Amino acid sequence: MKVDVVLGLQWGDEGKGKIVDVLTPQYDVVARFQGGPNAGHSLEFNRIKHVLHSIPSGIFHDNQVNVIGNGVVIDPVIFKKEADAIYSLGVDLKKKLLISRKAHLILPSHRILDAASEAAKGVTKIGSTLKGIGPTYMDKTGRNGLRVGDILLPDFREKYNHLTQKHRDLLRIYDYSYNIEEHEEQWFAGIEEMRGYTITDTEYELNRFLQEGRKVLAEGAQGTMLDIDFGSYPFVTSSNTISAGACTGLGIAPGRLGEIFGVFKAYCTRVGAGPFPSELKDETGNFLREKGHEYGATTGRPRRCGWLDLVALKYAILINGATQLFMTKADVLSDLDTIKVCIGYWYNGKLIEQLPYDLGEITAPEYVSLKGWKKDISSIDGASAMPAELKAYIRFIEEETGVPVKLVSLGPDRTQILFR
Ligand code: GDP
Ligand code: IMO
Ligand code: MG
Repeated sequence: MKVDVVLGLQWGDEGKGKIVDVLTPQYDVVARFQGGPNAGHSLEFNRIKHVLHSIPSGIFHDNQVNVIGNGVVIDPVIFKKEADAIYSLGVDLKKKLLISRKAHLILPSHRILDAASEAAKGVTKIGSTLKGIGPTYMDKTGRNGLRVGDILLPDFREKYNHLTQKHRDLLRIYDYSYNIEEHEEQWFAGIEEMRGYTITDTEYELNRFLQEGRKVLAEGAQGTMLDIDFGSYPFVTSSNTISAGACTGLGIAPGRLGEIFGVFKAYCTRVGAGPFPSELKDETGNFLREKGHEYGATTGRPRRCGWLDLVALKYAILINGATQLFMTKADVLSDLDTIKVCIGYWYNGKLIEQLPYDLGEITAPEYVSLKGWKKDISSIDGASAMPAELKAYIRFIEEETGVPVKLVSLGPDRTQILFR
């Protein structure tokens, strides 16, 4: 059996949560492989919207095992809140969720370090979600981190105190006032909650599932343009968001990867700082933000909006080896006469079709214009019922990228989806 992967091809918030929820019935296991509660994955059914941060988006189906893999970083406070909310909906989370022993813990002091580091950067700040992601992954790669498996060891408190003291020493370099103690009670309550779950070597479990012929879907967070290696560095997150991250974040061998489902919005958004070549700081940008409800699922910040960027999309397809494309939020473009697509960048006086080292040096995007469909498509039934202009938009993307668009999402609800 192979592991199929759902991941974002843009700057995050492509609609991964909804897609994972829709695909879950076809799988036995859903596993998150990287990131932490910087993610906000929304899904909607029975007119209720759910936003998940650490728990995989397969959790609302009855028969699937959900896994938080070793590549994920977990904040026990956010985990407990999320778990309580899911329990209140009648989902027996403890029965359905496995947590990797090797996943790293976000400490209260990691969040403080994140905030102190961002404050010190001033205008050059990343626009982090302030969830402590960067400092936690720094401790992981710096070999100082606390892992979920540690919470079951007798000297956990000592380990916690040791790392927190290290952070206090580090915080001296910042002119930043903080209070770690005020967060500790809740944090340890979260740790207590986590002790009630199955904490295990999920790499063994996942490989055993595969050997038994069970189907695994890996769920990525953030997007390719936020990848630590290939994103718009330094305006990125601190993990590998790409398909290779599913291997390292779950303990799956590369040869085990099957379909790579690349999710992209029919336009682009970005939340936080950093270059965004096709950004629209005009009426059309505002239109996309309001019609698409483009406000962060984690922080509530307005998302920056712009036209679809095919240069960035092709790059993301290349790095991930995307085998199928899933386009979301096509319905948001419905009222527009003309839809533009970025096909190149003006850079040092030349038109280029490759991502330059510094995206910030791009002077202007080059666009082609396509005709809009000007029809409500949110409840159309079947791919053949799509307006001709939408079909042409999809065909253009397929011709440019060489990858088929196999799924089109037409609204936030589970049912608003077309398979092609
Ligand atoms: P994720 O982080 O990739 O899971 O995406 P988010 O949940 O942060 O953001 C996607 C937003 O768009 C959420 O509010 C979804 O409910 C919503 N959404 C997903 N697919 C569609 C769609 O096809 N059309 C519309 N209008 N909204 C969608
Ligand atoms: P999902 O999984 C959109 C952005 C932040 C910031 C940068 C670094 O919902 O798609 P971090 O907190 O990771 O240090 O922030 O990355 N960012 C996201 N943007 N969607 C996300 O997740 C994001 N997670 C982080 O806004 O610019
Ligand atoms: Mg999101």
